[in-house]
Amino acid sequence: MKIFIVNGPNLNMLGKREPEHYGSQSLDDINKELEEEAKTLGIEVEFFQSNTEGEIINFIHGAKENGGNGIILNAGAFTHYSYAIHDAITSVERDIPVIEVHLSNLHKREEFRHKSVLASACAGQISGFGKYSYIMALQYFKMTKGGFKNC
Ligand code: DQA
Repeated sequence: MKIFIVNGPNLNMLGKREPEHYGSQSLDDINKELEEEAKTLGIEVEFFQSNTEGEIINFIHGAKENGGNGIILNAGAFTHYSYAIHDAITSVERDIPVIEVHLSNLHKREEFRHKSVLASACAGQISGFGKYSYIMALQYFKMTKGGFKNC
């Protein structure tokens, strides 16, 4: 099983950026740990990060053809207003499930972060557990053998 881990805008700044919300590890540090974790679960992972909405949309569109079985998506601030990413997810959701993740707990933060316009298109949302949000999403794909079973 191959899972794509997709990070949106400003997540390339992890380690430098607001450590009180996002911790002190860089995205590379986290990705290395996710790769190790995925190996123990027997999952292949590939990483993609972009600060550009269209690139994220194009990546989602191509994920199935590129051999992906699932997407773990932290869309950063696009989470709160990108109807275009919402529609990209709904356009592929029958072929490839998307799990929305966040490092910080959106509901403990500013009001504009409480709303996710992506959540209704995703299989589920995991928010507030730092890098463990991604690890829980990997475990979900492992437990459901690809993410299509309801809990
Ligand atoms: C974030 C939360 C978003 O509100 C924010 O814009 C981010 C990171 C998180 O992982 O906690 O860039 O998605």
